[in-house]
Amino acid sequence: MYIAAKDESLEWLFNMEGEDDNGFSEFYDTVETVLMGRRTYDWVMKQDLKKFPYKNKECCVFTRSSVENTENVKFVNDDVSNFVNKLKSHDGKNIWIVGGEEIVPFLYTEKFG
Ligand SMILES: NC(=O)c1ccc[n+]([C@@H]2O[C@H](COP(=O)([O-])OP(=O)(O)OC[C@H]3O[C@@H](n4cnc5c(N)ncnc54)[C@H](OP(=O)(O)O)[C@@H]3O)[C@@H](O)[C@H]2O)c1
Repeated sequence: MYIAAKDESLEWLFNMEGEDDNGFSEFYDTVETVLMGRRTYDWVMKQDLKKFPYKNKECCVFTRSSVENTENVKFVNDDVSNFVNKLKSHDGKNIWIVGGEEIVPFLYTEKFG
């Protein structure tokens, strides 16, 4: 399974064939919380974006370092599965685990494998 090219480019992902955005907007509307690892967050921040892409969502970034929260992001140092299960114990819309590699397989092997 590949999630990024060697140069970290996601061009292949954004060049996908299909209709319009392949249902992404419809999916995104169902999302309340966005989770990602710190390296994925760094990748997002390196893109030339006019505004933070997850601004209207609760965005949590996993890091083992102590990082001050920003206007858009809450930095979390927690067991990923526990954190997700805590979120799931409250009413709410969907949780989107954006990635990357260190965050997603952890959930699969620990809880959903
Ligand atoms: N194809 C796609 O849809 C897709 C989606 C997302 C990402 N990506 C790509 O994937 C790459 C990044 O993935 P990656 O696997 O290298 O990194 P990542 O999973 O995004 O982030 C890894 C970082 O997350 C933190 N972390 C991991 N487990 C943690 C835990 N249990 N508790 C607290 N913090 C934890 C650590 O941050 P610290 O080092 O700060 O402690 C670790 O260095 C990028 O190239 C990105 O573009 C692709």
